[in-house]
Amino acid sequence: MDNQIIVKNSGFIELPKIVDGDDGTISIAENLRHIPFEIKRVYYIYNLNNPKAIRGKHAHKQLEQVLFCIAGSCEIGIDDGTTEQTVTLDNPHLGIYLGTELWHTMKNFSPGCILLVLASDFYSENDYLRDYDEFKNYLNRPKTQEELE
Ligand code: TYD
Repeated sequence: MDNQIIVKNSGFIELPKIVDGDDGTISIAENLRHIPFEIKRVYYIYNLNNPKAIRGKHAHKQLEQVLFCIAGSCEIGIDDGTTEQTVTLDNPHLGIYLGTELWHTMKNFSPGCILLVLASDFYSENDYLRDYDEFKNYLNRPKTQEELE
């Protein structure tokens, strides 16, 4: 796996883990401690029976998310409009932070893969940029004074 994320607004998040040998492991994610935002929504993606499935293919204007592959493995493609990178997630305690304005894809799901997502806000379709050209135009939009500060 890439051990450094160079795409902007993103990075690895390593959760603490408590290892009980053969009796299992606990990983812990606490609000504003391990996760850099208030978690308002949790969702998970499973039944990924089509190994050729490509999910995501969008960016968010405001939403921040952290993705954990809590079973199996998959690849996360991230693109800030300038730099692209593909990161393999294959360890339940090592997640990826996806900040705003990142085109992302999830793919190459292993059998039994489960993706757990912690999100900074409720679901809102208005926050999605689902077309790549729309994403690029959004990045190049004239910025408001508030955005520039
Ligand atoms: P989407 O975010 O595009 O999924 P992915 O990024 O995994 O490919 O969402 C797929 C569909 O599910 C879309 O119609 C919106 C709906 N959805 C909700 O209603 N609520 C949610 O919290 C999420 C994540 C998706």
